[in-house]
Amino acid sequence: MKLRLRRRRFGQLIILGVVATTVGEFTKKVIAQTNPKPTSPTPAGLAGDSVAVMLRVNGKSYPLQIEPRVTLLDALRERIGLTGSKKGCDRGQCGACTVLIDGRRINSCLTLAIMHEGDEITTIEGLARGEELHPLQAAFIKHDGFQCGYCTPGQIMSAVGLLAEGCPSSDEGIRECMSGNICRCGAYPGIVAAVQEVREMKA
Ligand code: FES
Ligand code: FES
Repeated sequence: MKLRLRRRRFGQLIILGVVATTVGEFTKKVIAQTNPKPTSPTPAGLAGDSVAVMLRVNGKSYPLQIEPRVTLLDALRERIGLTGSKKGCDRGQCGACTVLIDGRRINSCLTLAIMHEGDEITTIEGLARGEELHPLQAAFIKHDGFQCGYCTPGQIMSAVGLLAEGCPSSDEGIRECMSGNICRCGAYPGIVAAVQEVREMKA
C-alpha cells in the first residue's frame, strides 16, 4: 500500500514538472513576442554619419569629415590639433574654451562645428604675429594675469572680444564683461590690470 502511494506521488511530481516546464517555455515565448529585442540604434559618431565641413581657423582652411554632433571645441582640439582652447567644464560655465567667431566671443563647447562653415574663427594660436605677442598676451605676462594658465587662453580671447565690444572702462565694468571666464587660481587682479592697460593703449 505504502509503495503504491509513493509511486503515485512520484508520478504526480513528474507530471507537475512537465507542466511547469511547458508553462515556463510558453511564458518565455509570450514575453519574447511582446517585448522584441531592441534593435541596436546606429550610434552617432560612426563613420557613416559624418559630413564634410570646411572650417576657417586663424586664416587657414581645414577640410574636415566630422559627425554633426561634434562641438567646435572638439573639432579644434581633436581634429585640427589646436589645443590652445581648453576644455574646462564642457557646458558653458567656465569660459576656458572661448574663441572668436567673426570677432565675437563664443564658448566653443556650446556650439557645433558644422554651424560655422564660412565663419572666420580665431583661437589663441591665431593672436600672435610670428614672434610678436598680441598686446593682451604681453600684458597678461607683465601683470601676472595667470598662475596655472589653464583658463588663460579663454581669458585672453574673451578680453580681445571685450575690447572690440566696447565694455565700460571701470575695473568693475571689466570684471562684469569678463564674468563668463572663471579663474580657479584667482588671478583676477592681474587679469583686470592687463585688460585695462591694453584698453588704455587703444583709447
Ligand atoms: Fe566651454 Fe567651460 S569648457 S565654458
Ligand atoms: Fe589657473 Fe586661471 S590661472 S585657473
